[in-house]
Parts: sequence; C-alpha cells; structure tokens
Amino acid sequence: MKDLKVLFNQEQLEKRITEMGKEIDKDYKGKEIVVICVLKGAIFFTVDLLKHVKTDTTLEFMMISSYSGTESTGNVNLNVGLDVDIKGKDVLIVEDIIDTGHSLKFLQDYLTRKEPKTLKTAVLLDKKERRKTNVNIDYTGFVIPNKFVVGYGFDIDEKYRNIPYIGYIED
Ligand code: IMP
Ligand code: MG
Repeated sequence: MKDLKVLFNQEQLEKRITEMGKEIDKDYKGKEIVVICVLKGAIFFTVDLLKHVKTDTTLEFMMISSYSGTESTGNVNLNVGLDVDIKGKDVLIVEDIIDTGHSLKFLQDYLTRKEPKTLKTAVLLDKKERRKTNVNIDYTGFVIPNKFVVGYGFDIDEKYRNIPYIGYIED
C-alpha cells in the first residue's frame, strides 16, 4: 500500500491496551463479563485486550457491517446476531472504532432489548469530531482525528487488516 503513515505502532498499542485491561479488571472485580467482539474489525483488539483481563469472561461474537469503501452509509446490517442469553449478565461490547456512532447505537439498542444487567462499551479508536448520534463509551483507547485508518483489524474493502500496526493514508 502506498503512502501509509504510522498512527500507532505495536508498542503504543500494547501499552494502551494493557492499561485498558487493568481498568476493566478494576471495574468488574468479582464479576463475570460476557465480552462481545464485534467482527470483523475488533478481532485484533479483542484478542490483545483479553490477554490483559484477569476477570472471568466468556467470549461471544457478533458481526455487523455498514461501510462501503471509506464512507459510512448509516445503514447498519446485522450479519451475525447473538445466540446466547445475556439477560441479567454484565456485558461488554468490544468495538474497533466509533465514527458517526450509527453502528454502536444499533448494537447498544439491539443488546439493550435482551435485558443485560449492565452494558458497557470498550472501543480502541474514537473519531470524536465525526459523531452524528449520541452514544455512550466507557473505555476509549485513543481519540483520533478524522483520518481513515488501516491495519490491526481495520480495512479498506476487506484488505490491510493484517498490517500489525495502525496506519493512515496521507491525502
Ligand atoms: P460508524 O457507524 O460510522 O460509527 O462506523 C463504525 C464502523 O465503520 C467501524 O466499526 C469500522 O468498521 C468502520 N470505520 C470507521 N472509520 C474507519 C476507518 O478509519 N478505517 C476502517 N474502518 C472504519
Ligand atoms: Mg466495525
């Protein structure tokens, strides 16, 4: 890929994600967390985050999609729903990035209807200035400017997810 600049290298990611894991442990002490990894983008983040969480967890997956190219469409599709009962459970959504907020809003509404005891959200990147809908985020890795990022799970039309750091395309 041409002109890819590093936004966060592996060391910076590891450091921040370790801190996030510790924060989660502190908040959920003595509880059990149902972690919901939002495919596909959050897979790298979820795996690395959970290595630093000592609290008992179960791991579930959901898949949604809303993007086509580099523009959010606002229409969120549920590709894979949740097939476990989360009623009365402490649920933590793990997402890759919040841009407009439409995807997270959709997820939070979907999961709230299943009546968890608590519902929190951990997100690696937040493009705060792009927000179009009001969503609550409990754990944020980094707030970033409006740049299109790739690598560490982030893609452009399904490619570049396997780059081991987070980069962006210089315009
Ligand atoms: P939102 O619904 O507009 O908040 O978009 C969130 C989803 O868009 C994320 O879960 C990503 O899949 C995708 N997305 C947003 N910004 C980027 C980016 O910079 N790179 C890759 N994917 C992105
Ligand atoms: Mg996503």
